[in-house]
Amino acid sequence: MERITSIPSAERAMERLDLLARVGSDGQNGGITRPGLSVLEDEAHALVAAWCEEDGMAVSRDSAGNLYARPAGAPAAGEVWSGSHVDTVPSGGRFDGALGVVAAIEAVAAVADDAPGAPLAVVVFRDEEGWRFGEGCFGSRTVAGQVGPVGLARTDAAGVTIEAALAALGLPGPPVDVTLPAAYVEVHIEQGPALDTAGFALADVTAIAGMAGFNVTFRGASGHAGTVPMADRSDAFAACADLAVRLRERALEVPGAVATIGDVAIAQPAANVIPGVVRATVDVRAPSAAALDLLVAAVPAVAAEVATRNRCGVDAVRAWRSEPVSLSPRVRAAVRSAAGSAGVPVAEMASGAGHDAGILAAAGVDAGMLFVRSLNGGVSHRPDELSSEADIAAAIAVLTGTLRSLL
Ligand code: GLV
Ligand code: MN
Ligand code: MN
Repeated sequence: MERITSIPSAERAMERLDLLARVGSDGQNGGITRPGLSVLEDEAHALVAAWCEEDGMAVSRDSAGNLYARPAGAPAAGEVWSGSHVDTVPSGGRFDGALGVVAAIEAVAAVADDAPGAPLAVVVFRDEEGWRFGEGCFGSRTVAGQVGPVGLARTDAAGVTIEAALAALGLPGPPVDVTLPAAYVEVHIEQGPALDTAGFALADVTAIAGMAGFNVTFRGASGHAGTVPMADRSDAFAACADLAVRLRERALEVPGAVATIGDVAIAQPAANVIPGVVRATVDVRAPSAAALDLLVAAVPAVAAEVATRNRCGVDAVRAWRSEPVSLSPRVRAAVRSAAGSAGVPVAEMASGAGHDAGILAAAGVDAGMLFVRSLNGGVSHRPDELSSEADIAAAIAVLTGTLRSLL
């Protein structure tokens, strides 16, 4: 099909973010819910595929559903990839992930127009957010060869396995048959306030924090809310609340560390029943492996302490861990030089959020990231996350220059 325009267009990217935001829209609050490996994520992939085909790219997907769009004539070796993801957290915003995809389409199309046959691809990874099945970056981990039978057996809250979710979308699942690229560059909304505070539109990302996730189950004794004396209770929710307070204290003691209990479920909840069983997730993150070790060790230890104090039993099982990773000096130099040529000052910062770029970097790919200033106080994983069209235009210009120099 004929190319619509060869000029990278922030306006077109913004329009596409609006169109993507309709897929899985929550309605009035403006949030978007597109779970990984869902029909809605598939719909978003179909939109992206159509846009890439409009720009004359050949679209394919691998057995895990990751999408690749290659300009006509591009050889599938020694490639430079750019992209991100289009799944969202529950009631998420329109920029997280999607921004990196629409920016990549603009930049790849523009570079391919000037350099026909250049080995480029727009890539959209599946299920980056990970909340549905309990571990993030599914798509990029399949590309890195890290997802085996145990990973495929993970279930969502309804008991659907990853394997079944893939099959429902007509996908056989990993192993995927792809060659890792020579380089990967991901544009992403910053998701924090640092750039706005410092007055920069963009940042060259230095590293991605280490992180780990636990599934914790407290087992106490259910009972009558009105008749069991406080001193005799084994309240599983009280134990879980105690864990939240004490983990917060531990995280505050470790510079740069964070700990979050984001998903809590009381089994058979009722206002007049003492909670007997509570399941919770714990997400811990830190900038260095040593700091992450401290938190990873703290979770089961603190869970055991609070369980004893609340007369409960506890299982605290680590579900996943990913190490902190530095991004590629080669890609970072290309980002800085492209920003210099475009006349856009860039800050430097590390990422506390996880990204597909981190998985590829850990797998040995020269991977880098370009953050785009978050507005609205830096909120993210919320409907009101925001970046401006002007900043997105700057990011597309810098990404375009970066891809050119990496070829
Ligand atoms: C992804 O958004 C993550 O950092 O959890
Ligand atoms: Mn993201
Ligand atoms: Mn996210």
